[in-house]
Amino acid sequence: MSVHKEYKKVTTHTLLEMKQKGEKIAMLTAYDYTMAKIIDDSGIDVILVGDSASNVMAGHETTLPITLDQMIYHASSVIRAINRALVVVDLPFGSYQANSKEALSSAIKIMKESGAHSVKLEGGKEIKESIERILTAGIPVMGHLGLTPQSIYKFGTYSVRAREDEEADRLIEDAQLLEQYGCFALVLEKIPAELATKVAKKLTIPVIGIGAGGGVDGQVLVTHDMLGMTHEFSPRFLRRYLNLYESMGNAFKKYITDVKNKDFPNKNEQY
Ligand code: KIV
Repeated sequence: MSVHKEYKKVTTHTLLEMKQKGEKIAMLTAYDYTMAKIIDDSGIDVILVGDSASNVMAGHETTLPITLDQMIYHASSVIRAINRALVVVDLPFGSYQANSKEALSSAIKIMKESGAHSVKLEGGKEIKESIERILTAGIPVMGHLGLTPQSIYKFGTYSVRAREDEEADRLIEDAQLLEQYGCFALVLEKIPAELATKVAKKLTIPVIGIGAGGGVDGQVLVTHDMLGMTHEFSPRFLRRYLNLYESMGNAFKKYITDVKNKDFPNKNEQY
């Protein structure tokens, strides 16, 4: 007899209810089946197949090089692992900026070929038409404001955004517009905590922060960073829950020594 475990799947509606109840939303990135399975089994609410895969998985300096097909490959690997979490996939740089028609076909391709549940786009009022067009196809959209890594060459640095009043006012306006357009949630990256709290209070949709303080409705981190696999990246907002760079390195070194010393495999480890 097979035991079938029942999961209550997280939906965009669940996230809205969580905000209304004051229950914080936990979100992490994943790009492959094995990691996604561990994260989903741990009870995460949202998994983001972020274009940070461009940095973390492919070793690029920015998120710009990753392609739509590469995002679909990562997303479909993640989707095969998921029983409960809502899966959001980043529309990569160049797949939605040109016009809303292209944005819609990129979003449809992601949904059709990966089985993902929603997409995320970076930007405010400049991508209004793309957001609205994607929504008309029934695809939920998550917004992303503050530090938007796809615009790194416009910003010039990865430092904190919206410290000045003018940029902060523009961000508040954009956040309100994204809610009006119909986004189901919003990511705020690397902005002052006070500003992020203000935005979360003004919006009815959930606001999920990364480097945006504790006054928002949820948190997201890049999994490889919070596990301490990427030891060179140390922003103030990052809490490391493990030092996997060190413990994995020690395991690899031990394996190499065991092989060289003919200690592995031993009699019990062979046929
Ligand atoms: O790509 C990503 O991982 C992201 C998070 C940093 C929010 O967009």
